[in-house]
Amino acid sequence: MDTKRVIIKDRNHPKEEELLEAARIVREGGLVAFPTETVYGLGGNALDESAAKKIYGAKGRPSDNPLIVHISCMEELPSLVKEIPGAGRILAETFWPGPLTMVFLKSDLVPDSTTGGLNTVAIRMPDDPIASQLIRLAGVPVAAPSANTSGRPSPTTADHVWQDMDGKIEMVIDGGQVGIGVESTIVDVSGPVPVILRPGAVTQEMLDEIFDQVFIDPAILGPMEDGARPKAPGMKYKHYAPKAELALFEVKEETIEQLYTPGNRLHSFVSSQMSGGKNWNLKPETFYMAWKVNEAAMEMEKAGVRVGVICTDETMDLYTVRLKRSIGKRASEASVAHNLYGVLREFDDLGADYIYSESFSQSHLGGAIMNRLSKAAGYRILQV
Ligand code: TXA
Ligand code: MG
Repeated sequence: MDTKRVIIKDRNHPKEEELLEAARIVREGGLVAFPTETVYGLGGNALDESAAKKIYGAKGRPSDNPLIVHISCMEELPSLVKEIPGAGRILAETFWPGPLTMVFLKSDLVPDSTTGGLNTVAIRMPDDPIASQLIRLAGVPVAAPSANTSGRPSPTTADHVWQDMDGKIEMVIDGGQVGIGVESTIVDVSGPVPVILRPGAVTQEMLDEIFDQVFIDPAILGPMEDGARPKAPGMKYKHYAPKAELALFEVKEETIEQLYTPGNRLHSFVSSQMSGGKNWNLKPETFYMAWKVNEAAMEMEKAGVRVGVICTDETMDLYTVRLKRSIGKRASEASVAHNLYGVLREFDDLGADYIYSESFSQSHLGGAIMNRLSKAAGYRILQV
């Protein structure tokens, strides 16, 4: 199939005529990839059994992994769900349109192929002028998973989508690079207590401010035991995986204590290393982590292995390893999320065999960043 690419001239003010053909394709059962504020989605008519099947086919995705249904306004919600619980109403008022997906009990209108046979449906109202105009013009809710081949990093540019979807779908709408860069937060509001199924830009801290109690699905925190069923079926797959073997470096609590204890061997070592250079503004644990990542990478490099390092603007100059890319600024988690998938794809293109990455704090957007990096690493986290 020939895939058409439509470039939106002004991504903040898309013109109706730029999106009419895309809307018709979706309404009639075809597939169109489009930008949202999180990542690019691969959209099809959520009420059309066969469109969902095509989506699974184009992604090479197991069909027990349900799709997120995208809407453009609140009026589109009631017919898709059995009920709108109080928590759902509050979250919709607070965060929609935005990077939040909610899981509701589904209505009979939503076909089983869209929900992978579940009696619930995941719904999101994106905050993106192209996405919302496309959904509105299509006149139907739009089922859209991330527009990557299953198991590859989610696409944050139209070029990423093109790499994975050229020849497999009718159209790619090119709206440039997305803003957030990691997928939406998923919260299940179908039970008595809201449960976070996937961390995203709507953070746990934000939800804790609204509710007395918020649960976290264990699948977020670490690898699932064999046979365990995460509530978001997608969480059980090895997701977001770069071609190279990725490992994260994390500084142990015990090491941090030593780094802050005057007279300790590590404290003396890091102080003397840091005092000469222009690293005075780095935290000792950040300096130490970068030092250890570089040491491990240099060892691999000397052994002739093609190894790359994921570092940050603040630590970049510390590295002597040849292949290194900054994922953003430590001082701005948003910049790290924004560049995360692009950097993983870049290493794929560079043919790296191993990637060593710095890690980040788990708070706020860091929760989503570490969730994606740990999953991409298959939970290989080296404590130093
Ligand atoms: O930001 C996003 O959410 C992007 C953009 C395109 O909107 N979409 C996205 O879709 O990330 P996808 O398919 O890559 O991830 C959907 C996740 C999967 O882990 C899936 O298992 C979960 O949502 N999910 C979908 N329906 C569900 C349901 N009824 N119950 C629990 N989890 C569900
Ligand atoms: Mg995905």
